[in-house]
Amino acid sequence: MIIDGKKVAIQLRNQIKTQLAQFSDIQITLATVLVGEDPASKLYVGMKHREAHAAGIHSKHVSLQKDIDQQSLEAEIEKLASDDNVNGILVQLPLPKHINKDRVLAKIPAEKDVDGLTEVNMGRLIQGQNQLVPCTPLGVMRLIEAYNIPTCGKTAVVVGRSSLVGLPQMLLLSARGADATVTLAHSRSENLVEICQRADILVSAVGSAGMITAAHVKPGAMVFDVGVTRTADGILGDVDFTSVEKIAGGVTPMPAGTGPMTVACLLENTVKAASLQGILPI
Ligand code: GUN
Repeated sequence: MIIDGKKVAIQLRNQIKTQLAQFSDIQITLATVLVGEDPASKLYVGMKHREAHAAGIHSKHVSLQKDIDQQSLEAEIEKLASDDNVNGILVQLPLPKHINKDRVLAKIPAEKDVDGLTEVNMGRLIQGQNQLVPCTPLGVMRLIEAYNIPTCGKTAVVVGRSSLVGLPQMLLLSARGADATVTLAHSRSENLVEICQRADILVSAVGSAGMITAAHVKPGAMVFDVGVTRTADGILGDVDFTSVEKIAGGVTPMPAGTGPMTVACLLENTVKAASLQGILPI
């Protein structure tokens, strides 16, 4: 089975559109910040704006020179933080090497943190009070729900320990409600093949093209590919789709798998942020 992220993302976006249409007098706005001219980042940000508009969410973009200094970048975030017309702030990552990312993210108020990457929202996730959680792992959870994939008591393996995906994915899968038994594997894990073979649910978020092969996959397992590697042949995922498809119970394609879900969950988080701010009565 192909786990169709594109289809579920469109459903989620349409649901959001219908929900917002009930409040046509209320305008909610997502602000994106892009530092530099990285083509992939520009593409992602453009997609986020397109999808926001399709859902009835306004958007605003702040484009900054790649050599901007720390203080000026933080000042730009502060402007958005204090702007009552901005409900969500997304700083596109990665930031240039001379910038301290954590200090930039710290300028985003928790209730406008639609990426769920601030200390407060990460801390809340650990405490089980999920409010705004990172979009990519949330997208995987939404796919699990959409396909009625059982998680309670099941073995999940997450490969990759980033704060953007792997760590929050581990927390979401093990949280009450999902109740999976989660192993977090990473680049230093020994016997990765054997660890992955135990998984009923396997999420790979490494960024190493084709590293998850049929040998890693238990027959019938559900496989979610979050890795993105750009090559001359296009975008490749961590999962060797052709071999894994034959053995897995379900697998997300690349593209049209977890990527569209990340964007749809950003919209979901923007609506949630507006609700937390008391702008939307939902
Ligand atoms: N770069 C790659 N993925 C993401 C994401 O989910 N959020 C942000 N802000 N930047 C990213």
